[in-house]
Amino acid sequence: MARKGIVLAGGTGSRLYPLTRGVSKQMMPVYDKPLIYYSLSVLLLAGIREVLVISTPDHLPSFKNLLGDGTDLGVSFEYAAQAEPKGIADAFRVGAKFIDGKAVSLVLGDNIFYGEGLPRRLSAIPETGATIFTYAVQDPQRYGVVEVDEKRNTITIEEKPDNPKSNLAVTGLYFYDSDVVEIAAGLTPSARGEIEITDVNNAYLQRGDLTIESLSRGYAWFDTGTHDSLLDASNYIATIERRQGLKIACLEEIAWRQGWIDEAQVARLAQPMAQCGYGQYLLSLIGDRP
Ligand code: G1P
Repeated sequence: MARKGIVLAGGTGSRLYPLTRGVSKQMMPVYDKPLIYYSLSVLLLAGIREVLVISTPDHLPSFKNLLGDGTDLGVSFEYAAQAEPKGIADAFRVGAKFIDGKAVSLVLGDNIFYGEGLPRRLSAIPETGATIFTYAVQDPQRYGVVEVDEKRNTITIEEKPDNPKSNLAVTGLYFYDSDVVEIAAGLTPSARGEIEITDVNNAYLQRGDLTIESLSRGYAWFDTGTHDSLLDASNYIATIERRQGLKIACLEEIAWRQGWIDEAQVARLAQPMAQCGYGQYLLSLIGDRP
């Protein structure tokens, strides 16, 4: 049973104003590609080929322009509008029909993940229960935070606690079985008026069905919520890409390496971009250096 994927690319992006007054936050450049490429790449690397992009009614057309229906990459992209920012778990209400009784992975459109072996780990996640990832951060109060006892068993997950019980933030990448639709449907909004993903995770935790994996120090996780973190992410990606001559989150390359498109298709996709480094990179992959 093939797992489905959802990218949540909603929100007003007000913390990035005026950058995001006219453009969706997930369209912001992170060095050489739009921010949403990075979260999408995680789903594709996990082997997920059916993806729903959720955004605001205003911004949805620009995502359709950017990504199309996915045929170009040998995948399927669908689109759904979230009229108001009602919270992350609302993605499972908006996406209920799309999920269609399958297991599903949700990734936040402003999160960037990078690290050796991540695709292998993601592909191995079982389609039962829930799996989430934690990452050590200096400012846990900005995130969902895992509270662990002396034996490092998880007791609870708290959303943006004033006094975090650990430095382990819950990242914006979540894997669930199909029960998540029913769990999300039964949630009531939190004090900040949102349907919280943390409540979904606590529901799985209570029934003993939550696996928490850690992304250790060898990984990079960025959320790009502020001007500084957006610039940090760009600098990080640029540094690695320039040093290695390899691209991070290059969707065309991933689709090709997954065997979903052939070399001729990579060449077709590169053609309109042949004047820039991105297109030249694609051509170099298939041994057709300009
Ligand atoms: C959301 C979640 C939070 C999680 C974070 C990851 O926060 O509510 O639990 O740690 O994403 O980026 P928000 O984007 O609503 O601040």
